Amino acid sequence: MFQKNCWYVAAQASDLGRELTQRWITGEPVVLFRNLAGQPVALEDRCPHRRASLSKGTLIGDTVQCGYHGMTFDCSGSCVRIPGQDQIPAALKARAYPVVQKWHWVWIWMGDPALADEALIPDLRYNDTPGWTVTGGMLVVKANYQLLTDNLLDLTHETFVHTKTIGNAAVAETPMEVKVVGNEVHVQRVMRDTPPPPLFKRVRNLTGHIDRWQIIRFQPPCSVSIDARGYPTGSEDLELGLRWFSINSITPVDARTSHYYWTITRCFALDDQEVTDLIHKQILATFMEDVDVLEAQQRLIDTDTRQVAEVSVKADFGSVAARRIVQRLVEQEAK
Ligand code: FES
Ligand SMILES: [Fe+2]
Repeated sequence: MFQKNCWYVAAQASDLGRELTQRWITGEPVVLFRNLAGQPVALEDRCPHRRASLSKGTLIGDTVQCGYHGMTFDCSGSCVRIPGQDQIPAALKARAYPVVQKWHWVWIWMGDPALADEALIPDLRYNDTPGWTVTGGMLVVKANYQLLTDNLLDLTHETFVHTKTIGNAAVAETPMEVKVVGNEVHVQRVMRDTPPPPLFKRVRNLTGHIDRWQIIRFQPPCSVSIDARGYPTGSEDLELGLRWFSINSITPVDARTSHYYWTITRCFALDDQEVTDLIHKQILATFMEDVDVLEAQQRLIDTDTRQVAEVSVKADFGSVAARRIVQRLVEQEAK
């Protein structure tokens, strides 16, 4: 049901250290840590002896000692010690996953390790580019990851869900242009000469009307980056307006739970901590409004057994296209 031959975010780079950290990713338990050289490591969080969680064991140098019977595994998952026994069976091996630290996050490849190619990590370069200031976090959301990608590919909802921050009437009333480019979906909404939403006003003291852009790029299966710009009408002057990327990568924990990794990375007021704090707080509050809607959606999907068909409209074109792409990729893997 999940694409496996692709990269998912396993952790924020800043969250991973010398502790054993358990994460479930696409329905599989994983233990993450940094080795002595600081490189991220991921093993299946399942001792091959009797299925104890390795994450409940002890990190000793570059090895993990299982907390149950003390068998010890290196960073490739090979067993290097069995207490009281010299012979180590070849089958006593924990699965190791390819991991790469890039663009602010640690990525994991859940599929065939032979196919893991770093070049396939979604292009989220603005998370880590000089001249851009990043703030972000991770939210646990009790909803399927595609409810989150649907949400990010149709920002019409800002008008109704995010009235206190980034939504106003102009968003829902302005049509979107949607393009499918290979395996990506690109959505663009340009709002000319419209009132600024409340958060734009607060961040940049905008008083008059603005030209506002939302340029969305979906990279399968679950990365959505949004190039958001707002300038005083006709000016396109960054000194007077704002531009940031809202970068979102949603990792399926299982069919009903997701880890929502998000950043806002901006190219103005770079060293202004007050601006960073304001954006962080307001965007987090905005995403919590999404979480409220999405978790209620998931609850209904789970409990309303009638399964009445949904009805799509024009604004769903991007999210429907994205789901079709993911569906095709999952089916290709199954062949
Ligand atoms: S379950 Fe891990 S050593 Fe026995
Ligand atoms: Fe939202």
